[in-house]
Amino acid sequence: MTIITRSLLGLALGVALVSLSSNSLEAQAAADVQKAVDAAYAKYKGLQEGKNADYIPALAKVDPNLFGIAVVTPDGKVYTAGDVKTEVSIQSISKVFTMAQVIQEQGLDAIEKRIGVDATGARFNSIIAVEGVKVVAGTGAPEMNALVNPGAISATSMVTGGSADAVWAKIIGFHNAAAGRELTVLQDVYKSESDSNQRNQAIGALMLAYGYIKDNWQQAVDLYTRQCSIGVNAKDLAMMAATLAFGGKNPVTNKQVMDADKVPGVLAVMATAGLYDDSGKWLYATGLPAKSGVGGGIIAVSPGKFGIAVISPPLDKAGNSVKAQKAIADISNALGGNPYAPKPK
Ligand code: DON
Repeated sequence: MTIITRSLLGLALGVALVSLSSNSLEAQAAADVQKAVDAAYAKYKGLQEGKNADYIPALAKVDPNLFGIAVVTPDGKVYTAGDVKTEVSIQSISKVFTMAQVIQEQGLDAIEKRIGVDATGARFNSIIAVEGVKVVAGTGAPEMNALVNPGAISATSMVTGGSADAVWAKIIGFHNAAAGRELTVLQDVYKSESDSNQRNQAIGALMLAYGYIKDNWQQAVDLYTRQCSIGVNAKDLAMMAATLAFGGKNPVTNKQVMDADKVPGVLAVMATAGLYDDSGKWLYATGLPAKSGVGGGIIAVSPGKFGIAVISPPLDKAGNSVKAQKAIADISNALGGNPYAPKPK
């Protein structure tokens, strides 16, 4: 064997060993993720706390025992436990993606100037929060955010396109791209919420009166109601979270859904206001930008590390899923997901 052949063989062996060890590292990391997911599922499966939302009658009928967890890592791998197939309505989690769409189309300033990026410290459908800015502070300055109902209905009104159909095609298109599949509206939820959304209609009219919505508040409220009724399972939600975790690129389809440099703005509003008046407590415990919906879903984002979602319909008093908060906090803490935590040496 010549010296050259011998060194080539050595090199090949070295490469093989490195790739073997990096494969086993990957396998170990994968096992750790699945272990964390399984542990949270086992720990909280039997927990009976909270209550389904019932101010939208269709939500009261959803099985309260539905419980599914999904985590998506940068390689597009999906780790799951429980029921990750049954769809619930996305509800307020859609607010993130409609806000993201407006930011993508019109820039970060557009949302900040029209609606604001400040926490209201109030419930998601608070009218007093709007009045507080307009009447108490006396400024009318945009000091709310696009993740509470008044700001979200305003954000929906900002999606350009003219006709309701054209605007809707853009809204659902953005959600589809983030989820990596074609989503559909749960018609029973849409009808139920349309029949019972007088409060949101009042909010829409108020937002027009105060100039946050420029015209046609009825169309904005209707499209907002429709976007809240999009059906998603835990896997869809985790993929949507992962799209935000990985710079606006869906890690399975590889489609760049939004510009990477616009994603931090979206995550910042999620961190500030994603769990309403419990957002501070949530951030304190996990450090994760997140968003809840009254359908029982919560998404959370560990930038560059993972997107996670849990669905479990019973909510606490602030309107956030009880089990989803606990499961996400446990899994993220097990995986070192808190972006504020020091990196292990
Ligand atoms: O407008 C509403 O009240 C619902 N469509 C959405 C509210 C919601 O999801 C708040 N989430 N925690």
